[in-house]
Amino acid sequence: MEQYIVTAALPYANGPIHIGHIAGAYLPADIYVRYQKLLKKEAVFICGSDEHGAAITLRAKKENKSPKDIINFYHELNKKSFKELNIKFDEFDRTSSKEHHENASDFFLKLHSKKVFIKKESEQFFDEENSQFLADRYIMGTCPNCGYNHAYGDQCESCGSTLSPIELINPKSTISGNSPVLKKTSHWYLPMQKHEKWLTDWIENGNLNGKKHHNQKKWKSQVIGQCKSWLKAGLKERAMTRDLDWGVKVPLKDSDGKVLYVWLDAPIGYISATKNWCKKNNKNWENYWKNADTKLINFIGKDNIVFHCIIFPILLKEHGEYILPTNVPSNEFLNLEGKKISTSRNHAIWIHDYLNAFPNKADVLRYVLCSIAPENKDSDFTWKDFQSRNNNELVAIFGNFVNRVIVLINKYWDGIIPEAHDINDKDGIIINLTNSYPEKIGQNIEKYKFRDGLFELMNLARLGNKYLAENEPWKLFKINPDRTKTILNISVKIVFKLADLSQPFLPDTSKKLSDLLNYKLNDWTGASKPQYIKGGHQINKPLHLFEPISDEEISQEMEKLK
Ligand code: MF3
Ligand code: ZN
Repeated sequence: MEQYIVTAALPYANGPIHIGHIAGAYLPADIYVRYQKLLKKEAVFICGSDEHGAAITLRAKKENKSPKDIINFYHELNKKSFKELNIKFDEFDRTSSKEHHENASDFFLKLHSKKVFIKKESEQFFDEENSQFLADRYIMGTCPNCGYNHAYGDQCESCGSTLSPIELINPKSTISGNSPVLKKTSHWYLPMQKHEKWLTDWIENGNLNGKKHHNQKKWKSQVIGQCKSWLKAGLKERAMTRDLDWGVKVPLKDSDGKVLYVWLDAPIGYISATKNWCKKNNKNWENYWKNADTKLINFIGKDNIVFHCIIFPILLKEHGEYILPTNVPSNEFLNLEGKKISTSRNHAIWIHDYLNAFPNKADVLRYVLCSIAPENKDSDFTWKDFQSRNNNELVAIFGNFVNRVIVLINKYWDGIIPEAHDINDKDGIIINLTNSYPEKIGQNIEKYKFRDGLFELMNLARLGNKYLAENEPWKLFKINPDRTKTILNISVKIVFKLADLSQPFLPDTSKKLSDLLNYKLNDWTGASKPQYIKGGHQINKPLHLFEPISDEEISQEMEKLK
């Protein structure tokens, strides 16, 4: 049986999650999984906290806390934010768990026994004052490519190029501020250059082991493009272990003070989390990860492409039993008010802050972030745009249509849906058109075009508004009651469809509609069936699905950013 493992990049438990994370990976993944589930497909949605690496130890140092304190705090905070935003993981695990440490260790040992790694001695930066080797993130200096002078040892956040600490101009230890010295140390390296050939065939043609593996046309062009440029530049060997005292210990002799590279252990976290979920649900995890019928879909942001499309696939393939991703639908970056979102400069909108400021407005943020998601290029969130999408779209189009229909049915027939009488040609066209929406929206979701999918959902509401405006049932009630009944019968069916079809995007709203309509929400196939609701069905009193957001509220939020 075909099944899906859908993953969203494990967020580092070194800080709260912000709107950029949500628009980049978690929201599209959530919409995708909800949709697959509505199609009655078996889909497991996997995520968890990434709790190792210098990202964590650096934060701990900064806050004068232990790494454990940091991960416990942010794991809980982020788990709560996701939950309140209705990002509904089946499993939200953590990489500090005993099970994950065992799993990652075993994975490493298996690769080690297959001689996948090369052990090598090299010189690495060492902070003499703290007598500690410096992980890439502990070194800062000037980027040799763009001149940015806060580049990290592994990456320049200004131009996005990947670096090695040795390449930095004028490197400094971020712990002591001193210039580090070079000192000998041994590590296990993955010779990635050995894998260029099959990777190229896999990424460019969708072939694996001489067979069709996936449809490469379904991969986003920017993902293939980034991989191609990596391959073109030529892959190098990369250390899979680090001198650090926080992480999964290297399970070999003579490896004291060494842990697995966080980018080796974290993606294995997807497997550990699946195992955990399977245990709770009495399933066999191998049936997912070692089964060619499983579609593995990794939702990520663009800074994660190389790890998911090159490094982890090499490891999975070398391990020899695992499936490779069917797709890695990566998004670009979301900016905020024209500037890069930055955790260190506190230029961000944190999800927990948003939910405090706008309680019960999870769907509004989901709506806006999906509407502007950086699917093919970077995009920008502004509070003004947030307000206008809420007021001019959710309130004025979606909410207004639903409200008019519910109000009229309550007013004329005490909330009992009237039977349709004389369906004319124009009505027929409308009915047929509304019936095409499940497929229209679904196809966009299948293609990872969530913006377009949501736009079609709004078009259905627009269509409803137009139908009401053209027929003006409020003017007809006294003159032609039967015609009024037909119009409202057709209109309320659009409301039912909106309830069903908004489920992947706006789960709270569909739930509200379900209550309002006294209606158990349908699956996706059910939503395509036009006649699922009969005249005579009792609905409830009108309520406002959305409310306008005022200028004051918006200026308050803009103030916070300063
Ligand atoms: N923590 C990483 C980041 O935020 C993502 C890890 S994804 C995983 O960029 F595959 F490694 F888990
Ligand atoms: Zn740079």
